[in-house]
Amino acid sequence: MEKREELYRGKAKSVYKTDDADRLILLFRNDTSAFDGKRIEQLDRKGMVNNKFNAFIMQKLEAAGIPTQFDKLLADNEVLVKKLDMIPVECVVRNYAAGSLVKRLGVEEGMKLNPYTFELFLKDDAKGDPFINESHVVAFGWGTAEQLVRMKELSLKVNDVLTKLFDDAGLLLVDFKLEFGVFSDGSIVLGDEFSPDGCRLWDKDTKKKMDKDRFRQGLGDVIEAYEEVAKRLGVPL
Ligand SMILES: Nc1ncnc2c1ncn2[C@@H]1O[C@H](COP(=O)(O)OP(=O)(O)O)[C@@H](O)[C@H]1O
Ligand SMILES: [Mg+2]
Repeated sequence: MEKREELYRGKAKSVYKTDDADRLILLFRNDTSAFDGKRIEQLDRKGMVNNKFNAFIMQKLEAAGIPTQFDKLLADNEVLVKKLDMIPVECVVRNYAAGSLVKRLGVEEGMKLNPYTFELFLKDDAKGDPFINESHVVAFGWGTAEQLVRMKELSLKVNDVLTKLFDDAGLLLVDFKLEFGVFSDGSIVLGDEFSPDGCRLWDKDTKKKMDKDRFRQGLGDVIEAYEEVAKRLGVPL
């Protein structure tokens, strides 16, 4: 597998072409951003931890029948993935109230949502990733109604699989964000990453935050918390 030119550089990862038209390399950097990229810091080991965390989770999801981008780990900070035509919509599943839901609706953080909620946000930092609904996705051509049905179905399946996985590690999966894309065969595949950067994880007993809210809220020990989560799950770092 030959690494070719950089295709794009996001806030946390750089994406490279390869000699295979159906494969890309994702390079996880130490850059850590919050507030739509308005605050950026380097956190030691973050690229490595998130790369290995993501590889572990994607393989668990794949084993549970969820199509993912994951192909193979190439290095501490690099993974080979399926090249996807990304749908610019973030799918968010929530099991407990936190973050923007608390701000928007004025509900108490930690309130159990019964059942879960499923939300869509446009992936557009300049617009502040606005809250959208399914009709916007179809009307503006970001995705089709059929693709949305599949994205929702897969998001809820991810929730089932990961709620159990984290629960067994003494963690509450509060909420998470997924990005999907279309593979060359037309199928909807889970892309981007699943790491403590894009989900909320609380210790079941103490409710200690173990995710990127430690960075957003200046709580400290950000990567130490990510490593603790990885250790509890059995992710080899
Ligand atoms: N399998 C994939 N194929 C193509 N693009 C991908 C894939 N996985 C992730 N991407 C895209 O790579 C970009 C880089 O990731 P990231 O640094 O998280 O960017 P961003 O700042 O846009 O969130 C994102 O735009 C993401 O949607
Ligand atoms: Mg991103």
